[in-house]
Amino acid sequence: MKVVAFLGSPRNGNTAAMLNAVCKGAASAGHETELINLTKLKISGCTACCACKNGKVKYCAVQDDMQGLYPKIIEADCLVFGTPIYMGQMSGQMKNYFDRWYTFLDANYEIHHLPGKKYITLTASGAPAEAFQSVSDYFNYWLGSFFKMELVENIVGGQLGPADAINSQPELLTAAENAGKALK
Ligand SMILES: Cc1cc2nc3c(=O)[nH]c(=O)nc-3n(C[C@H](O)[C@H](O)[C@H](O)COP(=O)(O)O)c2cc1C
Repeated sequence: MKVVAFLGSPRNGNTAAMLNAVCKGAASAGHETELINLTKLKISGCTACCACKNGKVKYCAVQDDMQGLYPKIIEADCLVFGTPIYMGQMSGQMKNYFDRWYTFLDANYEIHHLPGKKYITLTASGAPAEAFQSVSDYFNYWLGSFFKMELVENIVGGQLGPADAINSQPELLTAAENAGKALK
């Protein structure tokens, strides 16, 4: 299985640690893993040109680093979304990336490439975990109900203000590693 993990945090902190733990678990189960730091790439917002709906482009008219990510998304068996909570939501870098998934809907709003793929989400917030369950719910609606992907696990990390706060909650890293290990 190919597992591709996307990091939406610009710092090497809590989300990165959990994402690495998923990859470690998946690798230990024999899966191929790749971690991509979205914040190091140039990924612009969708321009609403809708070229992806009229067959004029393969993926997207915006020529930036997202072009190189589309084949990776399409080839992956499991996609991992790791994002810090910024102002109550996923980070802007993660949202720009996700808006660019609009290409996976054709002109009739039929979905292609995504149904059946597995997904894992990880969130990290300063506030207690319960405060931002809504972000995992958002992912579950769009990835699960809408794009027909299969949820493996939502890992919701709270009380993670400082970049190294994850070290005092090793159970989150264990849960992340186990989610990767459990992939089949
Ligand atoms: C711009 C910004 C906005 C944030 N907004 C929130 C927020 O709305 N709620 C919250 O609980 N924590 C918020 N935080 C704290 C981060 O979610 C928290 O530190 C998280 O662990 C960051 O993940 P990271 O270590 O992977 O970067 C914010 C941090 C930043 C930098």
